[in-house]
Amino acid sequence: MRVLGIESSCDETAVAVYDDIGGLLSHRLYSQVAMHQPYGGVVPELASRDHVRRLLPLVREALADAQSTPESIDGLAYTAGPGLIGALLVGAGFATALSVAWDKPALGIHHLEGHLLAPLLEPNPPAFPFLALLVSGGHTQLVDVAALGEYRILGETLDDAAGEAFDKTAKLLGLPYPGGAALAALAENGRSGQFVFPRPMLDRPGLDFSFSGLKTAALVALRGRDLPPSVRADVARGFEDAVVETLAEKCRRALGVTGHRRLVIAGGVGANRRLRARLTTVVCDLNAEVFFPRPEFCTDNGAMIALAGCMRLGKGMCGSLNMGARANWELGAIGV
Ligand code: KG4
Ligand code: ZN
Repeated sequence: MRVLGIESSCDETAVAVYDDIGGLLSHRLYSQVAMHQPYGGVVPELASRDHVRRLLPLVREALADAQSTPESIDGLAYTAGPGLIGALLVGAGFATALSVAWDKPALGIHHLEGHLLAPLLEPNPPAFPFLALLVSGGHTQLVDVAALGEYRILGETLDDAAGEAFDKTAKLLGLPYPGGAALAALAENGRSGQFVFPRPMLDRPGLDFSFSGLKTAALVALRGRDLPPSVRADVARGFEDAVVETLAEKCRRALGVTGHRRLVIAGGVGANRRLRARLTTVVCDLNAEVFFPRPEFCTDNGAMIALAGCMRLGKGMCGSLNMGARANWELGAIGV
């Protein structure tokens, strides 16, 4: 079973070929970051138009890298949502057209299902069931994953996503969009404990998150002052410590509540070095295991979509030409 996967939900155009026997055969990605940078964030219409420009060459390259022809492809998988509707429609339209031309099924994949399956691309993949922490630019969720398509949301953010909090605080620190990785790099030079930010929602029971107060706390710490780089690094470190500690504590609680022994981390913030180190300690204390995708598969990519498509096709879940795209789509509602 060989699947061509297409991801176009936001500012990355990505294509990959995944084979259930050969594994990941190729993956290509074009990032629009430079195009959006002058605006300080993603401009949806520019994103959609650029996906139109990039998709066809990327598909050609991914097929060539995988030494695959359209005849050798058994199906197509594309991100059907959630995301920017115009950007999603480009991928959905493109995959549906190829599906008609090649006479192969096309499957619409939930973007977050792609993220939470991404650790299965690695050499030591987790078995089902597991607990997943999804930490991306748009979502922060703890998910009980019973099997493919069987997802129960245990907790989620009540306001900003963890990645969004990184991006907004990075902006306050004068760092370019997207700020998460840049803030983490700045925090490497900062000292812990110089600025102590709140650990939101840790003082109450439950598995929900709230990150919008952290950016306000950063604003207060900076107070519009032009601080020297070493102090800005201390602020970045204080912010990162607060996010990492909050996520780690909620994971510890969720492992306790569910009894799961496997924890999967997925989404862009999962690339954060300090978060990875902290969660490794948490699972070690609980006699559990943690699974991360490699950093390039934490952020948006085509490999996770091709893999999800391959797993679904393998279970006989075929697509429909009416699938289309959805800007909003609950992960708990996707089913099998
Ligand atoms: O999963 P993703 O690529 O896109 C969405 O589906 O949202 O996640 C992007 C998010 C951005 O907010 C970005 O700032 C954040 O992941 N991010 C990081 C790091 N690398 C990316 N946040 C913290 N530390 C990092 N190293
Ligand atoms: Zn994503």
